[in-house]
Amino acid sequence: MKLPLPPQSPLILPDFTFGVATAAFQIEGASHDKGRVPSIWDTFCDTPGKVFNGDNGHIACDHFNRMDADLDLIQSLQFDAYRFSVAWPRVQSAPGKWNPIGMDFYDRLVDGLLTRGIKPHVTLYHWDLPQFFEDTGGWLNRDIVPRFVDYADKVTRRLGDRVTAYATLNEPWCSAYLGYRWGIHAPGKTSDADGFLAMHHLLLAHGSAIPVMRENAPAAAHGIVLNFTPAYPATDSAADQRAAAQCDDENSHCFASAVFAGRYPTSVQERHPDWWPEFPEEDLAIISTPLDFLGVNFYTRQVVRATSDIDFEPVPQPQAEHTDIGWEIYPDALTHVLTDLHTRYTLPPIYITENGAAGADSINEQDQVIDDQRCRYYASHLNAVDRAMMAGVNIKGYFAWSLMDNFEWAEGYNKRFGIVYVDYVSQRRLPKQSALMFKDFLTERQ
Ligand code: FCB
Repeated sequence: MKLPLPPQSPLILPDFTFGVATAAFQIEGASHDKGRVPSIWDTFCDTPGKVFNGDNGHIACDHFNRMDADLDLIQSLQFDAYRFSVAWPRVQSAPGKWNPIGMDFYDRLVDGLLTRGIKPHVTLYHWDLPQFFEDTGGWLNRDIVPRFVDYADKVTRRLGDRVTAYATLNEPWCSAYLGYRWGIHAPGKTSDADGFLAMHHLLLAHGSAIPVMRENAPAAAHGIVLNFTPAYPATDSAADQRAAAQCDDENSHCFASAVFAGRYPTSVQERHPDWWPEFPEEDLAIISTPLDFLGVNFYTRQVVRATSDIDFEPVPQPQAEHTDIGWEIYPDALTHVLTDLHTRYTLPPIYITENGAAGADSINEQDQVIDDQRCRYYASHLNAVDRAMMAGVNIKGYFAWSLMDNFEWAEGYNKRFGIVYVDYVSQRRLPKQSALMFKDFLTERQ
């Protein structure tokens, strides 16, 4: 399938970055090797009933040992950029103790990308907090803020300006809400108040690290990656519309407004006064330190209806098309969220840092993986990005999630998001039709 974009689309221009994304815990494996220490995700995987099938990150895609071949693969698919994360527990082995072997790995990874003409986009925190920090309270302990700054300092000092863009955090909504509020992700805590406290400390760590990162890597771009699942009202009623706005405030704007406007939405504080954390007012100035880019992760939308003046519930959309993870395919919501953010805030340039689809993929007799739905998903979402750009949103690049099938958190290896198929027994990689679609498009674009 061809990637159908309008002939005048800005996505066709060579300065629009096309990349693929991964995260350390999801692909690296080698979780006990060369001085890496356990993260909260290792502990969570070892907790019965938390991860599908009891899967873990011990081997994953064995990327730690196959890095060069994986970089060749990215190059062969013609991508301009690669977004990966540094595993904090691979570079720090104890409070105040750093692991040179871990640092060397990322150093070689960055050089390996540069020699292949691929731009490195680094995420510092993609959810794998060292367990030794969780043991002293993790993101609930304000002392994690200077610990994160230390870590950001070490990594940006070492990798420096060789990296195109550094993101402090990936999706702090997931770390805070899924990890500390609802217990669906590591560390599996279930307290609403803890969820909001973790959110605040994550954002404070982000804002505190940025000046240090800038000093170490002045030529690199520095930003944050947030996830957006915009809420649509189930009906036109005023109550449902209010519910959708409340839902967006709680999920999107707690993060976006804190970072770009220096305040948390009042509706969330009013709805949850008992859970709202206390903190010094000055924190918000730190959290809203100016950034060079916003990373937007987008997969789906949600539909909600009001259940009271202050509460709402999701409304399933059984008639719609869904991906293998049960997420509705609704590309217009991507245009909508981008134009809405652009209207509400004064934003730096945007990268779409994740977008993609899970599929129940398999290899056929011709040794191909035909992933039609994923191809259509990418085509429709790239057109949604094109429409947002036409409406005036400044978008510099787009990263497909993911380079290859990998450990999908609580879903284990059961959900495949890759554009490259991974056989977890042989560790063979096989580009799916979607990867070949990108390759054709990027080859023609040159
Ligand atoms: C995002 C995560 C990423 C991946 C995708 C499917 O929330 O950032 O690691 O798991 O979802």
